[in-house]
Amino acid sequence: MCGIVGYIGDDRAVPFLLQGLEKLEYRGYDSAGVAIYGGGKINIVKAKGRLSVLAGVLDNNKPLMGTLGIGHTRWATHGAPSDVNSHPHLSENEKFAVVHNGIIENYLSLKEYLGKKGIEFQSETDTEVVAQLLEYYYNGECEGKILDTIAKVMSKVEGSYALGIICEDYPDRIFCVRKDSPLIIGKGDGENYLASDIPAILSRTREIVRIKDKEICVLTKNSMDFYNLDLEPIEKETETIEWDIASAEKGGYPHFMLKEIHEQPDAVRKTVSPRIKDGRIALDEISLTAEKLRNINKIYFIGCGTAYHVGVAAKYTFEKLVRIQTEADVASEFRYREPLLDENTLVLITSQSGETADTLAALREAKKHGSHVISIVNVVGSTIANESDDVIYTWAGPEISVASTKAYSTQLAVMYMIAIYLADLKGAISAEDYDKYMADLQALPEKIEETLRETEKIQYFASKSFNANDMYFIGRNVDYAVSLEASLKLKEISYIHSEAYTGGELKHGPISLIEPGTLVIAFASYGKLFDKMLSNIKEVKARGAVVLGVTTQGRTEIESETDFDFYVPEVSDFMLPSVEVVPFQLFAYYVAAMRGCDIDKPRNLAKSVTVE
Ligand code: M6R
Repeated sequence: MCGIVGYIGDDRAVPFLLQGLEKLEYRGYDSAGVAIYGGGKINIVKAKGRLSVLAGVLDNNKPLMGTLGIGHTRWATHGAPSDVNSHPHLSENEKFAVVHNGIIENYLSLKEYLGKKGIEFQSETDTEVVAQLLEYYYNGECEGKILDTIAKVMSKVEGSYALGIICEDYPDRIFCVRKDSPLIIGKGDGENYLASDIPAILSRTREIVRIKDKEICVLTKNSMDFYNLDLEPIEKETETIEWDIASAEKGGYPHFMLKEIHEQPDAVRKTVSPRIKDGRIALDEISLTAEKLRNINKIYFIGCGTAYHVGVAAKYTFEKLVRIQTEADVASEFRYREPLLDENTLVLITSQSGETADTLAALREAKKHGSHVISIVNVVGSTIANESDDVIYTWAGPEISVASTKAYSTQLAVMYMIAIYLADLKGAISAEDYDKYMADLQALPEKIEETLRETEKIQYFASKSFNANDMYFIGRNVDYAVSLEASLKLKEISYIHSEAYTGGELKHGPISLIEPGTLVIAFASYGKLFDKMLSNIKEVKARGAVVLGVTTQGRTEIESETDFDFYVPEVSDFMLPSVEVVPFQLFAYYVAAMRGCDIDKPRNLAKSVTVE
């Protein structure tokens, strides 16, 4: 959503803050700002637009020299992107400056309350109430006691927040707190750091401490002290980050998205191999006993966006293999629809970031009803990972591009593993099938590599299509699941209008959209329904559509019905999304590149949606 960074040490703070914010720009990029303590007061510079605009202002007009500061890159929720709505926000008498990630849900009533006390607001943001409340309680009932003030403000605000706070009276301290939004502390040598995410501080340290919900941290250049809401000191563990800074950089690729697409074979390999022992799936992360697992009578797959599309693919897979009732739902619907949940329900939550607000709320709803929650998460130690009964990590490494790619592939692989594992446990598949699935699962990285070798074909098709106004993706069964994802990839980074439909639904309405020249991408790999898809292709061709057919190698009969074709390697049919998605991630990428779009930072989007 938004990115927070902080520095306290002996160096000038601004260069570190700008460098850190650059690493966090994927979280939001409509405005940015910094607050630096210097010359006995808090100085603020902020600017609407990309970070480069702020950097320009700081370079040219307003160099700030202090060695303590906080910075922010914003994804607007309350108030349009503008200089005044950018963070940091100051309190009325400039005693406090605040950067915030999250949403203060009761900000209107708090604003009204403070307004009645004569406090004037500068911005339209929810965040400004935090700055104003801090000064109000600090000068009032908290009598200048800073930690009491912070605890008091935390008791007043509702919603989600990660906050970096500096106070004019404490020129040697940064204060930080969080609830439902990520925040980490980096441990340096004679300096310390604060950030929303690890890449922001990785150039200086690998030693981090994660702030948990409702914890307060006080940072000086040589210390970090943690307190609970009762202001009792708490002990925290330091974690060493194993992955390299190079994993969070482009490594020679023009965009993170392209790099991450190419990382997929390795990411899937790293996710699958450690969980195979003696040719069998070993999911040691699942704490449910075999007996309890056998009693599960319903599975919900919950996520948002791409993570939800993994759930749609999983629904087909689990029904086929495990023979169990399943539902896939977007988290924002699930959390409010009073789903039927009990202790025999298994909820599989999927999230790359592990911080998505709706997904987290869905998880809590499931747990409230006694259901067992297993999450499939990429970011270690994230809130969803922490709150789940069990977590199965995808070892995809940091995914920086807003458009998710390698997270999808690794999440799918985990779903296949759980499905095969449960199917075996329930005796729903034969020993031969088990062995075949295991062989295909382990061969997936090479099959994905094979599809990556076809990049030129995809570039050619992108060059024929990048001027289109609309595109339609159709498929049946798991081919429909992958259509959803291919369509989302295209629309989010190229801004071409695109929809995904099941082949069978076409004649119930969507076919009226087809006119001469309309582009249709038809996934026709799912063997049992190949003929049905051929009929759907004929239907759209008869209305003048230009069709790119996608099917498995050898099914050349598709060629007589289509204008272009793309062949994917053969795999067990439920694993088809893994090989079909890759060419269409590339397709979206090249179409967006040909249209001159900002691929890693598409308009209006942010990588991690930590607000509702
Ligand atoms: O971090 P999460 O996996 O929970 O994020 C879910 C969605 O916000 C995410 O997949 C989004 O749809 C991506 N932009 C898709 O490319």
